[in-house]
Amino acid sequence: MKYGFFDNDNREYVITRPDVPAPWTNYLGTEKFCTVISHNAGGYSFYNSPEYNRVTKFRPNASFDRPGHYVYLRDDETGDYWSISWQPVAKSLDEASYEVRHGLSYSKFKCEYNGITATKTLFVPKGEDAEVWDVVIKNTSDKPRTISAFSFVEFSFSHIQSDNQNHQMSLYSAGTEYRNGVIEYDLYYNTNDFEGFYYLASTFDPDSYDGQRDSFLGLYRDEANPIAVEQGQCSNSAQTCYNHCGSLHKQFVIQPGEEVRFAYILGMGKGNGEKLRAKYQDLANLDADFAGIKAHWDERCNKFQVKSPNEGLDTMINAWTLYQAETCVVWSRFASFIEVGGRTGLGYRDTAQDAISVPHANPKMTRKRLVDLLRGQVKAGYGLHLFDPDWFDPEKADVVPSKSPTVVPTPSDEDKIHGIEDTCSDDHLWLVPTICKYVMETGEESFFDEVIPYADGGDATVYEHMKAALDFSAEYVGNTGICKGLRADWNDCLNLGGGESSMVSFLHYWALQEFIDLAKHLGKTDDIDTYSTMAEGVRQACETHLWDDEGGWYIRGLTKNGDKIGTAQQTEGKIHLESNTLAVLSGAVSQERGERAMDSVDEHLYSPYGLHLNSPSFATPNDDIGFVTRVYQGVKENGAIFSHPNPWAWVAEAKLGRGDQAMKFYDALNPYNQNDMIETRIAEPYSYVQFIMGRDHQDHGRANHPWLTGTSGWAYFAVTNFMLGVRTGFEGLTVDPCIPTAWPGFEVTRQWRGATYKITVQNPNNVSKGVQSITVNGEAIEGAIPVQAEGSINDIIVILG
Ligand code: NOJ
Repeated sequence: MKYGFFDNDNREYVITRPDVPAPWTNYLGTEKFCTVISHNAGGYSFYNSPEYNRVTKFRPNASFDRPGHYVYLRDDETGDYWSISWQPVAKSLDEASYEVRHGLSYSKFKCEYNGITATKTLFVPKGEDAEVWDVVIKNTSDKPRTISAFSFVEFSFSHIQSDNQNHQMSLYSAGTEYRNGVIEYDLYYNTNDFEGFYYLASTFDPDSYDGQRDSFLGLYRDEANPIAVEQGQCSNSAQTCYNHCGSLHKQFVIQPGEEVRFAYILGMGKGNGEKLRAKYQDLANLDADFAGIKAHWDERCNKFQVKSPNEGLDTMINAWTLYQAETCVVWSRFASFIEVGGRTGLGYRDTAQDAISVPHANPKMTRKRLVDLLRGQVKAGYGLHLFDPDWFDPEKADVVPSKSPTVVPTPSDEDKIHGIEDTCSDDHLWLVPTICKYVMETGEESFFDEVIPYADGGDATVYEHMKAALDFSAEYVGNTGICKGLRADWNDCLNLGGGESSMVSFLHYWALQEFIDLAKHLGKTDDIDTYSTMAEGVRQACETHLWDDEGGWYIRGLTKNGDKIGTAQQTEGKIHLESNTLAVLSGAVSQERGERAMDSVDEHLYSPYGLHLNSPSFATPNDDIGFVTRVYQGVKENGAIFSHPNPWAWVAEAKLGRGDQAMKFYDALNPYNQNDMIETRIAEPYSYVQFIMGRDHQDHGRANHPWLTGTSGWAYFAVTNFMLGVRTGFEGLTVDPCIPTAWPGFEVTRQWRGATYKITVQNPNNVSKGVQSITVNGEAIEGAIPVQAEGSINDIIVILG
C-alpha cells in the first residue's frame, strides 16, 4: 500500500493520503532554530538544544502527533471549519483532499475543500531564529467567500523539556502579552531577552487573538474543535500563568479566482516578532528567504550527483540520504518524535561516524564536530560517550549558553568526565577515519597540527589525539589480545565489561590502517613502524581467536569468563553482523575467510528488509553478555534488522569485489524500495530507520525510529565511496567502483576542492570491479586522479574490465 511518491525534480516526498499509519516527519532549520514536524503539522520547535529552549510543546507517544503548528480556516457564512493540514480537524477524506510535500528543510501542506484551496509552507529562513509559515488561501468557487484564518501553537511553559512534565513552578512563571500583531511569551524567570522570549506574529493586523491555551481551545475540547474557531472569534486572552498559545485571527473576503497571502512567524527574542513582521510585509522577502533554503540544499546536493540504473539509489543518494546524514550531524540523536529531548549533547560514537559522511557537503560543521569530539576526549584516549560540547568551550567556561545560567548549573568536572567503567570501547576509534576523511576532502593538512585541549586537562595536536585513541585500544585488551568490551561497544546492549569484543578489535584494525596511511603521507617513519607493528598484533589476535571454522564466521566476542559469544554450537546469538562485516571492511582478513564470513551473513542474517543484527535472537537472560539478552526477541539490538551496520556489509562486499551481493543488501534496506508496502513498513519511506522488526517478532518488517540513526551517514559513505567507488585521498581522487555485473555503467558529478569531475564509468565486459583504464580530459592516467585546478570542469572516463 502506498501513501505517496518521490518527486525527484523538486527533491520532495509527496504524501497524497494523510491517513498514514504513523507520523511521517521532517526537519526544518539549517542553523540553530529547529522544528520537527509531521505530515499532520504536529511537532515542536527548539533553539540549539532539544532539551533547552523549547519553544513549542509536544506530547510524545500519544495516539496523535499533537499539538503542532496549525492553521485553521473557517467559512464565516456557514460556520464550517477545517485545518490546512488534515489533522487536527480531520475532515472526511471523501469531502476534502490533502497533499503534503516534505522537502529539504521545508514542508508544504495543501488542502482543497469546498471551493477553497489553501497552502501553508513552513521553513526556517537562514539567518533568522524563527519559523515562517507562508499561507495562501485561494477562492476557487464562483462566489465571494468570507474566510477566517487562525493560527495555533502551544508554547512550551518551560524552556527545559523535562520541566514541562516535572516542574510545577513553570506554570506560574510564564505569561503572554499581545502587542501590535505579536503574541509575546515571556519566561519570566529567564532573564535573558533572547532565550526568555518566544513569539507568534502575523503579517496581517489581527481581528482577535488568544494567548491563553484554554481560552482558545475551550473546556473539555482539544485541537480538533477549538471553541475560538467554532465561534469565529478569539477572546483576546493574554495573562501570566497556566498554559499558553499563539493564536492570531483574521477575516478575509476573497473574490472568485482571487487569493490572499500572508505569513505567521514563530520565533525567539524580545522585539524580533515586530522586526520580522515588518520584514515579511514585503512578500518578496518571503520568496527570497525560501529561495535561500532551496539554494542551501542545491549547493550541498550538487557536490555529489549520480545517475545510475538504480533509480532508488539515485533518489536517495542525490537528496534524502545526504539530507538525513546532515540532520544527524547537526542534531545528533535527541530531537525526534521518539527522543523528544530529555538528554543533551552528542553521542560520541554517533557523531564521530555521522561526520564521515558530509565533509564535502558541510565541511564547516564537520570540522566543528571534530573539534567538539576532540575536546570530549580524555588524555587516556577514550571519549566521553555522551557530552555537551559547550562544557568544553573555553569561551563558555562559566556559563553554559542556550540554557539560562540561573536555571541550569554548569556541570562539575566530575559530572562531565566518567571513568573507565562507564567508557565505551569503540567511541574514540571512529574519530581516526573521520579526521582523515575530513582532511582528504578539504586539503586542510594543518588540522593535524592544531592544538586542542583534552577534556581532563592538557593539550595535544589533533595527530597526537589520534594516537591516544589508538593507544587506548591497544592497552585495554583481554587475555587473548582482543579489545575489552567495557560498558558497551558499538552495540549499546552488549555489556561485556572485562570481556572482549571482536567488533572493537576489527574497528581498531581499520582505524590503524587509516592512520598508517596518514603517517606515510606525512612521512612519520617512527609512527609507521610503531602502528604497523600494533596492527599486525591485532590482526594475528583476531585470526587466532575469533574465527569459528565450523560456522564459517567470526565470533562476536568473549565474556569475562572466556566463553565465546556467537559460535556454530550456540542456539541463541549464534552469528552476528558487526564482527563479520567489520572483519572484512577493516582489511584484516583474507579474501577466502572474508567470502565465507559474508556468505554466512547472507545465509543466516539476510531478509528482504535488510540484514539482521544477530540470529537467532537471545532468549535467555545472561548478564555476562549484557542487556541485549533482556530485549524482546526480534527487537532492536536483539535480532532486529538493525540498520546501522547494514552498510558495513555493503562495504565488505564491495571490498571483496562482489557487486551483486553489495547491491542485493543495499536494495533490501533501501526505504525507497518499501514505498508500496507501507502496511508492513509503517515508517516514512524517505528515511532510514534505526531498526526493523526481525523475523523473531510478529511485526517482522515494521520500521522504527526514523531519521536520527547512523545508518544514513554510513549508507551515504558506503554507496559513494565504495559501491560507486568515488573516494577522495590526500593527493588525488580514486574511482574504483564495485557494481552489479548487469550495470552498463553510471555517471557521477563530483565537486572536490573547487573543481568539478564529470565521471563516466563504462562496464563493457559486465564485471563488478577492476579498472582497466582512466582518462582525464582525454589523457590516460594510472592510479588516482590528481587534484585539478579550481574552477575547472574535467571529463573523466573510467572503463571497467
Ligand atoms: C543507538 C545509539 O545511538 C548508537 O550509538 C548505537 O551504536 C546503536 N544504538 C546500537 O546499540
